[in-house]
Amino acid sequence: MSKHRYAGRVRSVEMSGIRKLFDAGGPDAINLGIGQPDFDTPDHIKEAAIAAIRAGKTGYTPNAGIPELREAICAKFARENGLSYRPEQILVTAGGSEALHLVMEALVDPGDRVLFTDPGFVSYAALATFAGGRPEGVSLDATLHIDVERAKEQLDGARIFVLNTPGNPTGAVESEESVRALVEYANDRGVTVVADEVYEHFVYEKKHVSAARFGEDVITVNAASKTYAMTGWRVGYLAAPEDYIPECLKVHQYAQACATSVSQYAALAAYTGDQSAVPAMREEYRARRDLLYAGLTGLGFDFPRPEGAFYMFVPMGRTLIRRAIESGVIIVPGEAFGTRAPDYARFSYATARENLSRAVGRIGALME
Ligand SMILES: Cc1ncc(COP(=O)(O)O)c(C=O)c1O
Repeated sequence: MSKHRYAGRVRSVEMSGIRKLFDAGGPDAINLGIGQPDFDTPDHIKEAAIAAIRAGKTGYTPNAGIPELREAICAKFARENGLSYRPEQILVTAGGSEALHLVMEALVDPGDRVLFTDPGFVSYAALATFAGGRPEGVSLDATLHIDVERAKEQLDGARIFVLNTPGNPTGAVESEESVRALVEYANDRGVTVVADEVYEHFVYEKKHVSAARFGEDVITVNAASKTYAMTGWRVGYLAAPEDYIPECLKVHQYAQACATSVSQYAALAAYTGDQSAVPAMREEYRARRDLLYAGLTGLGFDFPRPEGAFYMFVPMGRTLIRRAIESGVIIVPGEAFGTRAPDYARFSYATARENLSRAVGRIGALME
């Protein structure tokens, strides 16, 4: 019993099952639990931040972000996603996480239903709950993709549908057909689609398509975090129909003021500078995915090859998951991502190939 009192809606949310794993395991542990690139931020991005510090660009910035960065994000949408935005439609945030938070706070009234996939990224349910909404999971099919017909049954009367592709924890990439069908159906019924596309650049065979291409009432959430190996810099953004921006900005203004000034200059260099680090990281992730997938299917696990992000969601059974973690292979049990996949574990392959081989070897030994 704590001697202090807390708000019930915060108390009802559990601490993230992933953060707990950050420092998990002994010296011999192989940590496949963490969802962040193991690459370093490219040098030209670091240099831009150092130059910004030297030039004294260390004060508050405009609440919505420095104008150059908002423009660079518009140029990125035009170049990479075939979407046309104006800077007034962009709000720069402290990572994709803050963008998700703002959207929930600005759009969700008490009791509103907020849909996302179960299993899904850990923040959606928590942020919906903090905003007073009612989180609701949409199930996946046997291939770990959204079951479009079943999702449609839940969409009527919902306030928000969070569409995360490429998906965490599954690594699934939704097809253009599914994205289009979900967005059109949702928007026709007054449901806002929040498209979480932070892994858009890590897609191996299929093509990523932005949800905002298929409907007007779509808020895209994205970040420099994964694309440019910049998780700790805390720069993300949302892009939305213009009338959403002032409402989201209010929350951002009072809770955050602005994203870190120096990090915004770094992100500006990321979006406008040399892009070659991105495909280089993608190709390394692809090689690691192939290595880990071959290893795990070789042990007899039967699951579809993930198509994106840097995760593999593996049906291992609870006992083996527990024993793997006890033996120092740090993976995240499926319960951390919702209620529907307790027999699965998420492997992050954002780590050296050697670690992946050692992890497979250790799990194989446990199975003998
Ligand atoms: C699906 C998804 N969305 C958003 C985020 C948040 O990213 P950021 O570090 O930019 O806040 C993550 C981070 O793991 C994620 O996996």
